[in-house]
Parts: sequence; C-alpha cells; structure tokens
Amino acid sequence: MNQIDVVLGLQWGDEGKGKVVDCLTPGYKVVARFQGGPNAGHSISIEGKSHVLHTVPSGIFRDGVLNIIGNGVVVDPVILYDEISKIEALGGPITDRLIISKRAHLILPTHRALDAASEAAKGKAKIGSTLKGIGPAYMDKTGRNGLRFGDLLLPEFEQKYLALKNKHQQLLSHYKDFSMFNTDEYEQKWFEAVNKLRRFQFVDTEFLVNRKLDEGTPMLAEGAQGSLLDVEFGSYPFVTSSNTLAAGVCSGLGVAPSKIGKVYGIFKAYCTRVGSGPFPTELFDETGETLRQIGKEFGATTGRPRRCGWLDMVALKYAVMMNGVTDLIMMKSDVMDGFDTIKVATSYKMGGQTTTEYPYDGGTSVEPVYTEFKGWKKDISGVRKYEDLPAEMKDYVAFIEKETGCPIRIVSVGPDRDAIIFKD
Ligand code: GDP
Ligand code: IMO
Ligand code: MG
Repeated sequence: MNQIDVVLGLQWGDEGKGKVVDCLTPGYKVVARFQGGPNAGHSISIEGKSHVLHTVPSGIFRDGVLNIIGNGVVVDPVILYDEISKIEALGGPITDRLIISKRAHLILPTHRALDAASEAAKGKAKIGSTLKGIGPAYMDKTGRNGLRFGDLLLPEFEQKYLALKNKHQQLLSHYKDFSMFNTDEYEQKWFEAVNKLRRFQFVDTEFLVNRKLDEGTPMLAEGAQGSLLDVEFGSYPFVTSSNTLAAGVCSGLGVAPSKIGKVYGIFKAYCTRVGSGPFPTELFDETGETLRQIGKEFGATTGRPRRCGWLDMVALKYAVMMNGVTDLIMMKSDVMDGFDTIKVATSYKMGGQTTTEYPYDGGTSVEPVYTEFKGWKKDISGVRKYEDLPAEMKDYVAFIEKETGCPIRIVSVGPDRDAIIFKD
C-alpha cells in the first residue's frame, strides 16, 4: 500500500476523531499525530468509560500499534506525562508503543502565560483559545526561536531554556496585567515531567515513518482541531495556529504528497464550535440547547459549552474540497433522533447575492439559506446495519453524498466503540 491514510475533522473540531481513529486502528500498525497540541481533546469511550487524549495518538488503546507524536505537534510535557500516567494506570507501560519526534516543539510555561496575556489584552475580540500556549509556541517555531524534543538531549538545554524564558518575560512585561502570570509552580512540574519523559525514545520520526511506508506498514495520520480552524484556510483570525488540513500531514510527519492515501473526513450530523468566531448556522434558541444537551456538547479540554447549530453544507463542501476527502464519516447521528425537522444550510446570502463558496472571513455577515428534511423520529443508537436505518435518515445521507460528491462510508450512532455502522 505504501501510503498513509488520514483522519481529520471537517468542521470546527470535536467531530469525533478520537472515536474514529480508535475504531479504525485494528486495520493499522502505526497511528501518528501530525499537528496541534494539547488544545485537542479526543475522547474514546470504552465500555461506557470515557478516556480523553490531548497529545497521545488515539491508537494507544489497541495492542500492537505504534503511536507517534510527529514533528508538527507542539507538546506540553506536563500534560503529556499526565496523560501517559493515566493510560499506564489502566494497562501497564507504553514506553515501547509511544515515540516522540526530535523535531516536535516544546510548549514552555511562559508560552501559556503569553497565551493568557494575549487573550486578556484582546478583550472582546479574543480568539477563545484553550490557553494551552499553542499560538505562542507556533510563533516561536516560525520565528525560529523554539525548543524541540531533540534539544532535551543537549548539555546546554537549560541555558537555551533560560534564554527563551527571558525573552518571554520581556514580552510579558509589555502586557498590562503581567503580574497575574506566575509560572514558577508550573515550571517545577514542567522540569519534573521533562525528566520523566526521558524514558521514551526521541526519534527522527521522518525516517521511521518513511521506512515503515516503504515496508508497506499500514499507517494512519490523526488530525486535531478541524478544517475550519486551519490557520491558512479556516475562519481567520478565529483559528488555531497549525495546518489542520490534509496538506499538514506532509509537513507534520515528513511524508511526500504522493504518499497520502485515503482521506477520511469526519463531520457531525449538525455543527458545533467552541471559542469565538463566525458560525453562520448557529442556533441561539431551544433547538440549539437541545442539541447541546442531547449531544453532551461540552468541551473535552476546557469543559466550555459548545455552540451548536445546523449542518452547514457550504462549509462542508469547502472542507471536502480543501482536503481531497475520499471517504466521509458522519458522527453523532443519534443526537438528531428526536427532531421533527432537520435543516441544512445549502447556500449563503451575502450582500444581496447568493453564494455556495465559503467566504474568506468565514461568513461573518452571511445569512444561511436552508433546505429542510423530515426527521426520522426513531432511536437509532442500537442499529448496527445500514439497511436497518430509517428511510428519512438514508435520505439525509444520500443528500449529503450528492452535494459533496463523496461517499459516506461510516455512520456513528453513539459514543461507544461498537456504536458504529460500516456502509457498503
Ligand atoms: P474529537 O476532538 O474530534 O476527538 O471529538 P471529542 O472527543 O472532543 O468530542 C466528541 C464527543 O462525542 C465525545 O464525547 C465522544 O464520546 C462523543 N461521540 C463520538 N461519536 C458519537 C456518536 O456517534 N454519538 C454520540 N452521541 N456521541 C458521540
Ligand atoms: P479537537 O482536536 C475544538 C479552538 C479554540 C479556539 C481556537 C484557538 O479536540 O477537535 P487554541 O487553543 O488553538 O489557541 O484555540 O481553536 N480549538 C478547538 N476547538 N476542538 C479542538 O480540538 C480545538 N482546539 C482548538 O476553542 O476557538
Ligand atoms: Mg475534541
């Protein structure tokens, strides 16, 4: 096969990537994260218990799978080690199943402080960041100041750390509320975590990944966040700081574009968004609240209530196009079980004109035009065969396939591993 398949989100994150990666992993030997950091919260529900991963790839709960934290990821050692401890408490050491790229950048305690200071300074215009230090860490990466896992092996690491910390402190002193951010306590935990992580292999993962590809090892790349949070093509500036699209796999793992295989694009049967920024189909009424309650739409990383709304076909088609999606996966279909009517935005009205193209500002001032569907009004959470799904739901699926020009291969009907229907 010599290609790497990809799982990524097509909306604003939290589509259910963790569950899908876990479900698909029995078909793969390697799972690799290629971007993002602990702003991600990927839930995997096993026998009713939810496990949330922030940095560790979602293949970790399957035996015989190698999990790689790729060069494109930014890592907070404290959060990573906490995750590792929780996983190891369940099933023993994972030292031989988790590998970290020497090129992966470190999130410093002062990156977190800078994130908080920057958001506070923005006031009402804040991004709604998860405050994990993601933006400042990627800024240091592109600004050529960052520290990487490989640097931990250098005798002068501490000196390098102090130089960067000093630079951050100077930056922080320009913020009015600088005194709010005391990083000493976190710094102590940070160094402890760094030392504990030394039992893991820090590797030139670009060589490992390519060697595995040449050997024909089945590999899966796991995206974090979602396409509409991509720093280049998302709803800028209300985005994250990495390339969340399929293109990010190449730079985030070191694989050539010709090595990208299937691209699994994941979306919810409706839409959610956490943090600020345009969300054309957002519902501010009871229907939105119903979606939030039934879908348990509260952030896996921050616990914040997620904003909810109808499926947005303009945005979905854009994401399918930008990623070259080959296979669609529809999540949380069961959340729609009780609705009489389900709406989908099929175009936007913008300045007296109608468009089906996602605008450069993410649709700040558009009015969505909706197509209505009859709800199926049945509990589908126990269904395991596609043919047993209600006709109204199959109509909904067929409509999405026609609009996107892409087949829906999997339908998810509940959080657990087994609540999944493979179509075709
Ligand atoms: P990720 O960030 O894309 O991995 O998604 P999250 O884990 O942040 O959020 C998805 C949430 O939906 C988690 O709580 C999952 O357990 C849950 N979930 C996943 N698939 C389904 C589904 O088909 N139905 C329902 N009801 N919940 C689901
Ligand atoms: P997963 O992988 C949903 C959002 C934040 C904020 C913006 C920038 O679980 O789908 P950042 O912390 O990157 O500075 O935040 O992006 N965001 C996410 N929203 N799911 C995520 O990850 C997210 N990661 C970041 O809420 O609006
Ligand atoms: Mg999430």
